[in-house]
Amino acid sequence: MKIELVENIKNFDIEVIFIKNFKALNKQTIKILKEFNFEAKEGKNLLLTDAKKLYIGLSKLKNEDLKIAASNAINELKEYKFKKIKIALAEDKKELDLKTLVEGLLLGSYEFQKYKSKVKNSSFDILIDTKNSKKNIEELKKDLEDIKTICSSINMVRSIVNTTPEDYTPITMAKDAKKIAAKNNLECKIYGEEFLLNNGMNAMLAVGRASRHESQLIHLTYKPKNPKGKIVLVGKGLTYDSGGLSLKSSTGMVTMKCDKSGGAAVLGIMDSLKNLAYEYEVHGIIGAVENMIGGEAYKPDDVLVAKNKVTIEVRNTDAEGRLVLADCLCYAQDEIKDIDYIFDMATLTGACVIALGEFSTGIMGHSQSLKKKFEKASKASGELVGFLPYNRYLPELIKSSVADIVNSTSSKGGGAITASLFLDNFIKKENKKKWLHFDIAGAAYKERNWGYNPYGGSGAGVRMILKFIENLNSK
Ligand code: BES
Ligand code: ZN
Ligand code: ZN
Repeated sequence: MKIELVENIKNFDIEVIFIKNFKALNKQTIKILKEFNFEAKEGKNLLLTDAKKLYIGLSKLKNEDLKIAASNAINELKEYKFKKIKIALAEDKKELDLKTLVEGLLLGSYEFQKYKSKVKNSSFDILIDTKNSKKNIEELKKDLEDIKTICSSINMVRSIVNTTPEDYTPITMAKDAKKIAAKNNLECKIYGEEFLLNNGMNAMLAVGRASRHESQLIHLTYKPKNPKGKIVLVGKGLTYDSGGLSLKSSTGMVTMKCDKSGGAAVLGIMDSLKNLAYEYEVHGIIGAVENMIGGEAYKPDDVLVAKNKVTIEVRNTDAEGRLVLADCLCYAQDEIKDIDYIFDMATLTGACVIALGEFSTGIMGHSQSLKKKFEKASKASGELVGFLPYNRYLPELIKSSVADIVNSTSSKGGGAITASLFLDNFIKKENKKKWLHFDIAGAAYKERNWGYNPYGGSGAGVRMILKFIENLNSK
């Protein structure tokens, strides 16, 4: 699908028209729309081939409503053979926000067809008519390029997440990191299990021990000239989570290819930075590991010593993500000095999905002001978030009788928060207020469409973190 800006389009097969109400329409059009029972509501579409018009209902001509409507339009058009599709940017004194419109088109049209024997080919050109736009054309061109960059990274993340665990192993993730580095001029370091052993990263090492695929520690760096500051992103890249010896149920295990979503989101963000010309130095660190069963598997009752020497009593091998992140967070803070922000992203707990519902990312951390900044960034990005609070009693739950901490509590409640408090043991004093934890277990993957997110991986985390960096950048 190509998207181009053109002024005053004459030659097209069909025009998409978004309808919030009937006010600006002429009597004849209103009559026809009413005859076909069309309403100006989300989910209502009407295709009039003779008139070369596709009407799409929505309740607001902006933000998420516009993205969902654009996605509905594109998915409707996939059913037909139109080649040139016109969308007018400005009409009747109203102007659509180009980035919002294109985001809906590009994210909404994504389809994962790698494993289909018959691939659907719906290739068409979207021509966005800039006639009557009040915006400067150079600005519009830049907006279009920027949103194309972001959406292409998100669709890449979705494809990584959707790829099977047999096709996407820790080594595959490392290879992808190298490709992304080569494309974007990033520094790229890849380490295997020998490095983990030599550097005391025993918690991460233990999780991958029963897998036939070697665990990989990935470190990408984006270094612009004269950076304004330093941001560190750490991602959980469990290419499969069987639960280990604390085996998941057969239904609980299905979809666990999505457990690499945090790592994949880090790859997606790293893939966008150069094109967006952000002025922050950004480090992307991923623990790519597979959690399996077998004679070599780590066990409940084991005690693991993490890179910072904190000892961990394993009580549940299915709480593996926090073990991988623990060592990756230590590695990040040992390697990188003068950090301004450190964020980790992980499909960490089912408890987060219970707490916030399946569409929202759980954000946790010590700094109220940093959480406020993220509230703003997430809203502007279109990603849904909720903030889960710490308190003085919850840390008691992760204390261990035999080691320093346990990896899984016996308490029924607050599992997303106690997982975050576990990670807090691996955050250095000087970074406490610079750290946020993002639990994307709900938003990262779904076995059905929602809004402009198709079945499967959504790319959760990418847009809000890029928006956060963009906000810093423009200061
Ligand atoms: N990868 C899972 C969490 C998850 C659940 C991700 C649902 C996506 C959707 C994680 O490793 C896990 O199994 N967590 C356990 C923790 C528990 C054993 C303390 C959980 O949430 O049940
Ligand atoms: Zn698990
Ligand atoms: Zn997991």
